[in-house]
Amino acid sequence: MDRVNVAVVGLGMGRHHLYCYKNCPQANVVAICDVDEARLQAVGDEYGIKARFTQYEELFALPDLHAVSVALPNFLHAPVTIAALKAGLHVMCEKPLAMTAQEGEAMVAAAKAANRQLMMHFNTRWHPSSQAARQMVEEGLLGEVYFGRTGWLRSRGIPGLGGWFTTKAKSGGGPMIDLGVHRLDLALWLMGYPKPVAVSGAAYSELGKELAARQGKSFDVEDLAAGFIRFENGASLILEASWAGNTHKREEGFTILMGTRGGLHLDNGDGEGYDFRARAYREMGGSLVEITLKVPPAATTAQAAFVQALLDGKPNPAPGEQGLQVQRVLDALYRSAAEGREVAV
Ligand SMILES: NC(=O)c1ccc[n+]([C@@H]2O[C@H](COP(=O)([O-])OP(=O)(O)OC[C@H]3O[C@@H](n4cnc5c(N)ncnc54)[C@H](O)[C@@H]3O)[C@@H](O)[C@H]2O)c1
Repeated sequence: MDRVNVAVVGLGMGRHHLYCYKNCPQANVVAICDVDEARLQAVGDEYGIKARFTQYEELFALPDLHAVSVALPNFLHAPVTIAALKAGLHVMCEKPLAMTAQEGEAMVAAAKAANRQLMMHFNTRWHPSSQAARQMVEEGLLGEVYFGRTGWLRSRGIPGLGGWFTTKAKSGGGPMIDLGVHRLDLALWLMGYPKPVAVSGAAYSELGKELAARQGKSFDVEDLAAGFIRFENGASLILEASWAGNTHKREEGFTILMGTRGGLHLDNGDGEGYDFRARAYREMGGSLVEITLKVPPAATTAQAAFVQALLDGKPNPAPGEQGLQVQRVLDALYRSAAEGREVAV
């Protein structure tokens, strides 16, 4: 196999997958699927894809199809991913892995049983600032990371008000499962995925319900959640996520890591554009020195890494098991918030 035949199911964020596959010389986009026929036609025409389906089961039966991106609303991640794996396809699944760890466990088990790859679309990792930060970590410049703070805060930015995003039965939760999932993965990935053991969380819905009610829309998830995570190795991490909060920046993403030999500060989004900055801190000559990392242009994408792993027959760099680890922390954070006490992960 010198090229991977891929398809994309769900053409909202799925259009980004298509764009990335189209720019990957070793990927061949053979088909797309969406229940929204107008969207299916528009995206098919834009990308010149003739094979179009409204039923994913029919797409999965295509001969010579190797892999599929599942970019559907969260409640469909588990059933559609499992169906694809059972049909013998490798899967790249959008974040979050699922709505709950229980669903995620079934997905990871299905990938093992089918001997197929399951990769998470944790695309924040593929941003050049994240890659540069990871290289610093790998070169030992931070020493042992023992504390971090990571989050994504919006002052006003509820996606799809009244739709699946704000309906717990279809999303699994609000900003924590939507945005926090990215920043948690990024921090864990830079910290070497230490084993989480306990979480203390809090979740609020002070503004979301009111903002939704003003527009006659439904909203039954949190609008802000935060947690304190303890790891087996003694490290700890604060995680924050909001879609609505009375704060000064429209949007900010951050990941701060403190290690025994150096520190890192990744900034994503300043409320205007969506810029990425990376700074590092090291003691030099008795002074604490700030270094601004020169961030190179994007070298690759998650989709290209997925395709390469399939061609090489090697494990992919963002396996379903890591998605499950993230999901277990999110589950514990929500459980802790509901019970008002620290809980085991
Ligand atoms: N990684 C990222 O940066 C990022 C960004 C946005 C969204 N996402 C994730 O992508 C997923 C989709 O989010 P979105 O914003 O694209 O949502 P969306 O609602 O805009 O798009 C979902 C699409 O799926 C289609 N669909 C629904 N049910 C279907 C079915 N049974 N079969 C085929 N198509 C079906 C809908 O018609 C729609 O076009 C979510 O899991 C979300 O968390 C990730």
